[in-house]
Amino acid sequence: MTPSCPAAPRVARVELNAPPVNSLGIALRRHVVDSIRAAETDPDVVAIVLIGSEKAFSAGADVSEFGTPLQFEAPMLRDAIATIEACQKPVVAAISGVALGGGLELALGCHARVALASARMGAPEIQLGLIPGSGATQKLPRLMGAERALAMMMSGQPETAAQLSASGLLDRVVSQDLWDTASALALELAQQAQPLPRARDRTVDVAAVEAAVEKAAARLNKRQRAQPAYQALLDAVQASALLFEAGMQRERELFLALMTSSEATALRYQFRVQRESAKLPPSLSAQPRAFDHVAVIGAGTMGSGIAIAALEAGLQVGLLEQSAQALERGVARIGEHFSSRVKAGKLESAKAEQLQGRLHATLDWSALSAANVVIEAVFEDVAVKQSVFRLIDQHARAGAVLATNTSYLDINAIAAVTSRPQDVLGLHFFSPANVMKLLEVVQGKDSAADAIATAMALGRQLKKTPILCGNAFGFIGNRIYNAYRKQCEFMLEDGAWPEDVDQALTDFGFAMGPFAVADLSGLDIAWRMRQAHAATRDPRERYVHILDRLCEMGRMGRKTQAGYYTYADGKPSPTTDDVVRGVVVRAAAERGIERSPLAADVIQRRALLAMVNEAALLFSEGVAHRAGDIDVVLVNGYGFPSWVGGPVHWARTQPRAGLEQDLDRLIAANGFGSVRATPAMLDRLLA
Ligand code: NAI
Repeated sequence: MTPSCPAAPRVARVELNAPPVNSLGIALRRHVVDSIRAAETDPDVVAIVLIGSEKAFSAGADVSEFGTPLQFEAPMLRDAIATIEACQKPVVAAISGVALGGGLELALGCHARVALASARMGAPEIQLGLIPGSGATQKLPRLMGAERALAMMMSGQPETAAQLSASGLLDRVVSQDLWDTASALALELAQQAQPLPRARDRTVDVAAVEAAVEKAAARLNKRQRAQPAYQALLDAVQASALLFEAGMQRERELFLALMTSSEATALRYQFRVQRESAKLPPSLSAQPRAFDHVAVIGAGTMGSGIAIAALEAGLQVGLLEQSAQALERGVARIGEHFSSRVKAGKLESAKAEQLQGRLHATLDWSALSAANVVIEAVFEDVAVKQSVFRLIDQHARAGAVLATNTSYLDINAIAAVTSRPQDVLGLHFFSPANVMKLLEVVQGKDSAADAIATAMALGRQLKKTPILCGNAFGFIGNRIYNAYRKQCEFMLEDGAWPEDVDQALTDFGFAMGPFAVADLSGLDIAWRMRQAHAATRDPRERYVHILDRLCEMGRMGRKTQAGYYTYADGKPSPTTDDVVRGVVVRAAAERGIERSPLAADVIQRRALLAMVNEAALLFSEGVAHRAGDIDVVLVNGYGFPSWVGGPVHWARTQPRAGLEQDLDRLIAANGFGSVRATPAMLDRLLA
């Protein structure tokens, strides 16, 4: 990371060179300050260009320094930026790859910015529960206008330089010759008589700032209002209407207060456990098998979504059905997806055609032999799946990974009908499969390590978060969700209305309440499963009949305009109606319960305790390999608020004695058949 100045330099080239992504750790910060100072005092140098690698100008703060003294060791990023701003010679940022967070702020400190059109810039701090802390909240409004600046910082999503070319953020956007353009601009600035341009010196339109902040405040949704970083961002941008130094001071105060907030701590934890979840235990370390062709069996809701995800990842995709009609419907669904992406301007039509050109729809099982990975997504019925796996066994090539998308069925029972159980595993996608990030990779008793490694690699190629799970009822996610939903049903009998439960849990931060979710997925799915399990259910178990009664009345959820709620034009009624309330009251009376209303905090705690208890049980059974994996599953697949970290992280923040006591009470109230995780299991989970 030494400054490399050419022999007869007029423009000094200061390289950011801390692979892989130029994170702004202490060494790189020192390098920037030292190199700028050296160039400033070098009489041969008239101007300076700050340039990164092809991959990154800078991806921002070094997250590994967070919470360590290094983060605050001088020079801090602010000091490095101040050095650039004070430099008497122009400093131009030449941006390729990414300029994110602190990397963007470093560029904002420069006197001008030149970027490759493909470079991606953004302020992702909000996704970690923070706001930019080194000037972006003050400088972006001055360069782009407050409204555009707020949109960028509120979304946290990067934008390309091409998209930003007219925003005021960039002085030049080029498709090549980045260095030449940046050094020419630096020389141009050096020759100008007027003072060097600096974002901090730009005047700010006070009225526009106020209007933008007011508008953004009115638009904050419930999840954003629950996270203090959003309001802090508005406050910081509001302060850009003040004198620059006062605004910077305000940004700093807000940033520091957020650093130690429980929300930012939880989001940093989620970031870490998501990264860790990709690593397999040593016993499973193996090279993935090569794959470029995925065959999907069943072109229904899940099969067509999985096919879309695989096509978008550039894979060849075979789509196999039992009937021509179902196949046609599936192909049409896939086609609609791509044409709506093109219509929305998110995909070029030539690219869409190229991707769809890799789709091979067929009714012919012999086509399976082309695939290295087969994913079955037919009806959720073990006999149907077994008959499909017998056919797969006949037709798939040797060494192909054979996966089932089952939600609940036993992977071993499916693998057992094949001659190659070592190749069989579960790939549990979530609906819509082309959108949802979570992917549970389920290990059967015979699944080979390299088959699992292939499934994880496929998950990553599909841009999913693959999580390894053991083969047990409901794997990780559905098992915990079932315990949670059951507890929510108990609360109906105990005295809450469905809307009380939904409201309390969305107030806590869940994307949707459990009864709204049930209506959306269709109550009949749960009903059918309950019927399938009726014969083996112990009559002494506390079983809530409300859902069955609603289904018997034809109330299957949204698709029949009535479930727990009623629906007009797709919108749910704000409260449940008398029919539902009558069913709830009767269910409680039959059980001899005298209903009394439940406060929101009681509802939230009961729901969370049910999740934590189930998490401890399944962790003790080895269904999850790391406690953090459970939190990744709940946040990425079930709408658990990321800023609470997940049920395990939440439990770690609770006083232990109270947790144990409340669990005792909860399990006792659940009655016969409800298993309490032991304190030793909780110790392991919460360690
Ligand atoms: P679906 O009913 O929409 O689609 C199933 C498709 O499989 C139908 O098009 C059917 O014609 C086809 N099929 C049935 N038997 C076949 C056979 N022998 N050969 C070839 N094709 C056959 O069902 P959906 O919702 O897509 O579910 C599929 C699987 O995915 C199930 O195991 C389900 O549990 C699982 N799953 C479903 C989720 C959801 O939200 N819908 C979420 C996660 C998993």
